[in-house]
Amino acid sequence: PASVRVPPPAPRRPEAALPTIYAITPTYSRPVQKAELTRLANTFRQVARLHWILVEDAAARSELVSRFVAGAGLPCTHLHVPTPRRYKRPGLPRATEQRNAGLAWLRQRHQHLPPQQPGVLFFADDDNTYSLELFQEMRTTRKVSVWPVGLVGGRRYERPVVENGKVVGWYTGWRADRPFAIDMAGFAVSLQVILSHPKAVFKRRGSQPGMQESDFLKQITTVEELEPKANNCTKVLVWHTRTEKVNLANEPKYHLDTVNIEV
Ligand code: UGA
Ligand code: MN
Repeated sequence: PASVRVPPPAPRRPEAALPTIYAITPTYSRPVQKAELTRLANTFRQVARLHWILVEDAAARSELVSRFVAGAGLPCTHLHVPTPRRYKRPGLPRATEQRNAGLAWLRQRHQHLPPQQPGVLFFADDDNTYSLELFQEMRTTRKVSVWPVGLVGGRRYERPVVENGKVVGWYTGWRADRPFAIDMAGFAVSLQVILSHPKAVFKRRGSQPGMQESDFLKQITTVEELEPKANNCTKVLVWHTRTEKVNLANEPKYHLDTVNIEV
């Protein structure tokens, strides 16, 4: 009988082929911090191959965030860098140093890993709301992908305007002159682009309010090159929610509780 050569079965490890999604989250100590991080972890835990880079705006890692990371149930890297005092003023961009620390970690880590590891980077502020579908969309980013963001810019949403599969403009009500009129939550970048543009960072010098995204994106891409996601940018899969400041008017200064509780 003729021997039939049966090819070996294809490896059935679909997850191993998925590009890793790196989410860089700047975070700072305030009464709602643990609640925000809990909400985020509950989302991120459901996403395959997500690596969370949490960057504390602090001179040292806090106990609260350290404990949280240890129990988060997903791969985490916990970094910290303080924002210099002179930059902690209303009207100035936030989290510049923290996002740059995340970028530096990512670039450094991939000096030691085999080249061509597929990956996607995304800036995930700790107070936004992320649908799981968003991660499916960004996972296929080749260079830089974009999508609408809900509840931002003084409108129900902002979005890239797409014609024939290309971004040709921006639907926005705020500073329409921005080269990339998009919120931090509205784009993802492939790891390859991050590694091949080692100098691309967020800049303090000369940066105006609302221009951080444009200043960063123009270092690595062009509007023509952007890849529209979320059904040609017609679906809102992330919301720029903001958490109201907590009322602590009745928090005691004396006669404290008999136990010390982390909130
Ligand atoms: C908007 C944009 O959506 C942000 O991406 C941008 O960083 C920010 O403006 C800005 O002003 O630079 P907004 O909701 O106004 O966002 O800002 P926050 O959510 O208060 O801060 C953005 C991120 O930075 C959050 O993850 C927050 O935890 C972190 N942050 C904020 C710090 O790490 N330190 C701070 O002192 C303040
Ligand atoms: Mn926010």
